[in-house]
Amino acid sequence: MPEPLLRVEDVVKRFGGIIAVNHMSMEVYENEILGLIGPNGAGKTTLFNCITGVYKPEEGRIIFQNEDITGLPPHVIIQKGIARTWQKVRPFKKLTVLEAVTVGALLRTPDVDEARETAKEILEFIGIEKSRWNRLGSEITLIEHKLVDLARALATRPKLILLDEVAAGLRPHEMDELAKVLLKVREEYKLTLIVVEHVMRFVMGLSERIVVMHEGKKIAEGRPEEVANNPRVVEAYLGTKPL
Ligand SMILES: Nc1ncnc2c1ncn2[C@@H]1O[C@H](COP(=O)(O)OP(=O)(O)OP(=O)(O)O)[C@@H](O)[C@H]1O
Ligand SMILES: [Mg+2]
Repeated sequence: MPEPLLRVEDVVKRFGGIIAVNHMSMEVYENEILGLIGPNGAGKTTLFNCITGVYKPEEGRIIFQNEDITGLPPHVIIQKGIARTWQKVRPFKKLTVLEAVTVGALLRTPDVDEARETAKEILEFIGIEKSRWNRLGSEITLIEHKLVDLARALATRPKLILLDEVAAGLRPHEMDELAKVLLKVREEYKLTLIVVEHVMRFVMGLSERIVVMHEGKKIAEGRPEEVANNPRVVEAYLGTKPL
């Protein structure tokens, strides 16, 4: 096995008496699409927040490209090459599509013209029509929002993107379109993706490997078909006590 791109080592994150992430460990390898699944409240978003510097874990380490990045602030982590999209759509009502993506690119260069060119290239590549580039965030559809969120993440020139419920709320044909775009950007930009998702058809179809969280811990990992048939995983989703 090659060295992992990202290593989560024994991470613990508490909120008061709740242990949201409870000694969680996992590895993510370069260029793979890893699905991270688990019932509501399993700790998936909190783990993303620990990786991206929103929270500092109380215990454990996050290692990215062999560097310990635990507890670094979010803007430093973005500059190291980790980008994300958010579970809740965070509308940029007063910016246009092009401006919103340009802001992402400005995290990597102080040159506005260069940032705008990067934004245009990315919007074109992911297939948002030019006629939509000057629309305000308040005027675009949900699938466009999801694609613009992805474009904003790409504009920071990441090596790794964490996608938090990117398919939620989309119609089946829109999910298929999004899956195609994700495969295309992975190839073009030599990316690694971690996909947190409840829509099983989407995440199982897209991911090469799946990690399952429950109550802050990893309870299973493997190929999608292995995980789907794992009794511990089935139990966790049915809400009964895991084996
Ligand atoms: N800021 C916070 N303050 C207090 N408790 C929190 C906070 N964020 C998350 N939690 C709690 O931590 C646990 C894990 O939540 P988290 O949002 O990480 O789960 P999740 O796997 O992303 O769930 P979902 O699939 O519903 O998005 C839950 O019990 C949640 O209520
Ligand atoms: Mg979540």
